[in-house]
Amino acid sequence: MHFLSVNDFSRDQMNEVFDIADEISLGKSTVSLKEGSTLALLFEKPSTRTRVSFEVAMGRLGGRSIYIDAKTSQMSRGEPVSDTARMLSLYVDFVAARMYHHEDLVEFANASTIPVVNALTDLEHPTQAMADLYTVSNAKRRIKGVRIAFVGDIAQNTCNSLMLAAVKLGAEMALVGPKDYPANPEYLTRSREYGVVDIYDTMEDGLANVDIVYTDTFVSMGNEDEAEKRRKAFAKYQVNANALKYADKDALVMHPLPAFRGQEITADVLEGSRSIVWEQAKNKLLLEQAIIMYLSEKSM
Ligand code: CP
Ligand code: NVA
Repeated sequence: MHFLSVNDFSRDQMNEVFDIADEISLGKSTVSLKEGSTLALLFEKPSTRTRVSFEVAMGRLGGRSIYIDAKTSQMSRGEPVSDTARMLSLYVDFVAARMYHHEDLVEFANASTIPVVNALTDLEHPTQAMADLYTVSNAKRRIKGVRIAFVGDIAQNTCNSLMLAAVKLGAEMALVGPKDYPANPEYLTRSREYGVVDIYDTMEDGLANVDIVYTDTFVSMGNEDEAEKRRKAFAKYQVNANALKYADKDALVMHPLPAFRGQEITADVLEGSRSIVWEQAKNKLLLEQAIIMYLSEKSM
């Protein structure tokens, strides 16, 4: 079984992964991987959190990891993604891959005989969504009925995964961004089959009654050529103290990090009492442990 998209997990499966995370965090988990289990981290893009937390997650589960910078692999000389997947399947037990193009990850997974996890592509960031929703559930004591605003670039990976996973679990989404950068139509349609996704182009309307204000960079990896244009287009959607006045008085602030202070979020909000971004980052490690354990059990 692979985890390439939040679509790969049903609602029950997401809850099973959260239960494993609870057991691990309470120290009640007796699970560990078969001795010598190895995770290859194949990364085409930079990473701090996802790379380090996956490496530590494997160590805590009794396994180990190997980091492969795609630029220094034979992929950079044109070895097909599918051959790379076949090779890694001969040597390691799991792969977490961060790739520019989601289709490359799908091609990789199709040629792989071991579980493959999406560690971020242009289309999705599903391990982040799992950590995020686990964080919401701990902070708000529920997910069902929680209203989450995703603010800024609603057309990207983090939003796609969060939106689809959140509505599957019974949360509501408010997408708040400029009309020129609309949400991915396929993810929007699929998400609306599960629950409520409203779209706004003003902060005042979009943040009304929301419990969570979630933002992410205006310039995702791969969009650097359009950096200036994007910063201008999204400027009105900065999460700052004034914007938070529109949200519920107990609304919390989330961000997958890295944050660009002064662009999508101000430093005072990021470091303020409503921010749970550090808890969110911490939970990546726990959820990655839980996801590896879950895939390991399902692949036996
Ligand atoms: N949130 C996240 O994926 O961070 P990294 O890019 O540092 O892995
Ligand atoms: N949307 C961002 C997420 C970074 C963790 C990006 O793709 O760069």
